[in-house]
Amino acid sequence: MKLLEGRTGCLADLGSGDGRLVFAASSAGFQCTGFEINSILLAYARTKARWTGVPSSQATFVKKDFWKTDLSKYNNVTAFLAPGAMEALAEKLLKELPDDALVVACRFPFPNWPHQSTVGSGLDKTWAYNIKSVRKSKD
Ligand SMILES: C[S@@+](CC[C@H](N)C(=O)[O-])C[C@H]1O[C@@H](n2cnc3c(N)ncnc32)[C@H](O)[C@@H]1O
Repeated sequence: MKLLEGRTGCLADLGSGDGRLVFAASSAGFQCTGFEINSILLAYARTKARWTGVPSSQATFVKKDFWKTDLSKYNNVTAFLAPGAMEALAEKLLKELPDDALVVACRFPFPNWPHQSTVGSGLDKTWAYNIKSVRKSKD
């Protein structure tokens, strides 16, 4: 959440798990969508949203494979996935995201992207990437 300070708009959490990041980001004012393929985690997050009174305009949890989803409407993307996914994800995000997008990668960085900032260390290290700067670095 520190890396998202000063940001606003739509946020996609790719693999939202129990929803913790979506709940934190929606409290900070983002319109969040959590993509999750695990039905149990999805049910947990949806139930928690209902019980804690988080409106669907602020946080929605969808049972969708993010690889098969167009992410072009999101100007903030967070991902805590696996090292082997990051190269393919980099390619997808570079194709789809708007120039003003910020991408936050938890624990596993994008292999060939210059980062804008980081927080934490070790297993808790998190990287932020500005898509416009990443695109420029590839020119
Ligand atoms: C390491 S967990 C992160 C959970 C949560 N974001 C967190 O920070 O605690 C990764 C999650 O991604 C989900 N996931 C993996 N591939 C996915 C896909 N293609 N589409 C949607 N969710 C996916 C997994 O089911 C898992 O819950």
